[in-house]
Amino acid sequence: MLFLADTANLKEIEKLFSYFPLEGVTTNPTILAEQGKPLSKILPELVKLVGDKMLHVQMLSTTAEKMVAEAEAYRKFVGENVNFYAKIPVSEEGYRAIPMLKKRGIKVTATAVYTHLQAIVAARAGANYVAPYVSRLDNISSHGIEVVRDIVKSFTDYKMPTKVLGASFKTVDQVHRVTLTGCYSVTVSFEILERMRSHPLTDMNVETFTKDGKDLYDIKF
Ligand code: E4P
Repeated sequence: MLFLADTANLKEIEKLFSYFPLEGVTTNPTILAEQGKPLSKILPELVKLVGDKMLHVQMLSTTAEKMVAEAEAYRKFVGENVNFYAKIPVSEEGYRAIPMLKKRGIKVTATAVYTHLQAIVAARAGANYVAPYVSRLDNISSHGIEVVRDIVKSFTDYKMPTKVLGASFKTVDQVHRVTLTGCYSVTVSFEILERMRSHPLTDMNVETFTKDGKDLYDIKF
């Protein structure tokens, strides 16, 4: 079970990398827009922070040929060290782009996945990851967790090498339930990652232990 941070906020990423066992960062155009900087300014900073971990960057183009050209340019821009994934929405052109990218050695995360069958088609096309949008599904009276569960089951049953990257979480409980489906990885916002690793009782306990041990721990270190 891997955790990625769904943010392009440099301060958030820096803080998370300082303590959270993260495997990388995912972004999309909306997340990038929140930073108010063009990609050419923000990407080098992301690359610095991410190091050799995963960086998933979404393509903006809407035709397969342009998605490929865009992904090739971005891969070159971010350099060899980063574990780069081109995020490709599962549109008709997106499905067409996936095998083209794979042929060029570019790893793909199929994104904006809403159904089990979209995920299977993306996996057959050669996607390395598929990203089902849990919260956005729940918000249209569908069942995000069940969609993830079905995808995980089929990938396992059919021995498909594609991995599931659960995405679009708005609550800690959604992340909790997705992790119980056997989902390989999740990408989660800063706020939810911070909330899920903390508990007020843990903080209270640390405070009490520190107070109780203060005059007893006399071995120098
Ligand atoms: C991840 O790859 C997606 O871009 C992201 O999780 C979407 O999340 P949102 O529904 O919070 O925008």
